[in-house]
Amino acid sequence: MLLPLPHLLRPFLALAAVALAGTSPRLAAQAVRTGTVAERFQLLCANCHGKNLEGAMAPSMLDDVWTNGGDDESLAKSIRTGFPDKGMPAWGAAIPDKEIRAMVIYIRELRAKAAREKTQFVKPADSMTAQSELHAYQLNPWVGGLKEPWSLAFLSPTQAVVTEKRGYLYLIENGKLADRPLSGVPAVDTGGQAGLFDVVPHPDYAKNGWLYLAFSDPQQNAEGAKVSLTRIIRGKIKDGALIDQQTIYQGKLEHYIKAGGVHFGGRIAFDRQGYLFSPSGATATATRKASPSTRSPANSSTPNTAPAVAMNSTSLKKASTTAGPSSPTA
Ligand code: HEC
Repeated sequence: MLLPLPHLLRPFLALAAVALAGTSPRLAAQAVRTGTVAERFQLLCANCHGKNLEGAMAPSMLDDVWTNGGDDESLAKSIRTGFPDKGMPAWGAAIPDKEIRAMVIYIRELRAKAAREKTQFVKPADSMTAQSELHAYQLNPWVGGLKEPWSLAFLSPTQAVVTEKRGYLYLIENGKLADRPLSGVPAVDTGGQAGLFDVVPHPDYAKNGWLYLAFSDPQQNAEGAKVSLTRIIRGKIKDGALIDQQTIYQGKLEHYIKAGGVHFGGRIAFDRQGYLFSPSGATATATRKASPSTRSPANSSTPNTAPAVAMNSTSLKKASTTAGPSSPTA
């Protein structure tokens, strides 16, 4: 069933021969390990195992059948010692242990990717009764046609508002989405994970009409680069517009991260005393700036690596006193 080894190895050997021409045997090992783990896998393994582990001359590594053990150590051993009698060379001499370990992780990643791609999300039934441990409840569609809705809040039993990540705030009345989004909503950075996030009514909304919004606020920094950071505002709905806007929280411009970034935070919650809480998100700046030199945690607190507010995902912002229900006027 298997072709003789020399034949199987010919494409790889041809490549290796180009790479190794003129090098000593000791350098040969180094020549093999240049490039990323992905490149190395494509060069050394994909021929037999398939570009995405789907299998070719060698068995697939996407199923859960591991002839030689599926744990990390067994995989590493398979790669190190190979199966010369079945056609797989031993790589232990050419690939250092650390990089064999990287190869094992890469195999895990390719498997996870394949599993993700296979996942199918079944469209839920339009109307159904579900039974939880304690209650039966009915699911019915209420509003359709939204694009990436992020947050929904009821203002009364029949009226709600919903945010779309792309920067729109819609009113919903009796299950009918307004024809157009509310006007006057601030400009929003919508790239990457940025967008219009939470919408939450004031605990005393019925009396004061305040609506709180969190969004990625697009700005230009001192160098003229596009940046954004979560900002919280409040405003009131009147005649299809968001009016009387006030900023409740805004970070310092130097703490803003590259527009279209990740990890903004963006939830808003009120506690029983009427304080407003919002996580600042971790942002990616902190890790990106802290990691290149060393990985020591101390490094991440070096000045200029990350703003404290952005590093600390549990740092909670207390709303200005005018935001609390104690003084709901404005
Ligand atoms: C020339 C073909 C060939 C090449 C090149 C090759 N393999 Fe294999 N590999 C095989 C065959 C054939 C088997 C099946 C051995 C068996 O049946 O037990 C195998 C088995 C394995 C197994 C064990 C699978 C199991 O079910 O237990 C792992 C892990 C593996 N290969 C990884 C690699 C990696 C990583 C590379 C590249 C560095 C590589 N192989 C390159 C042919 C190849």
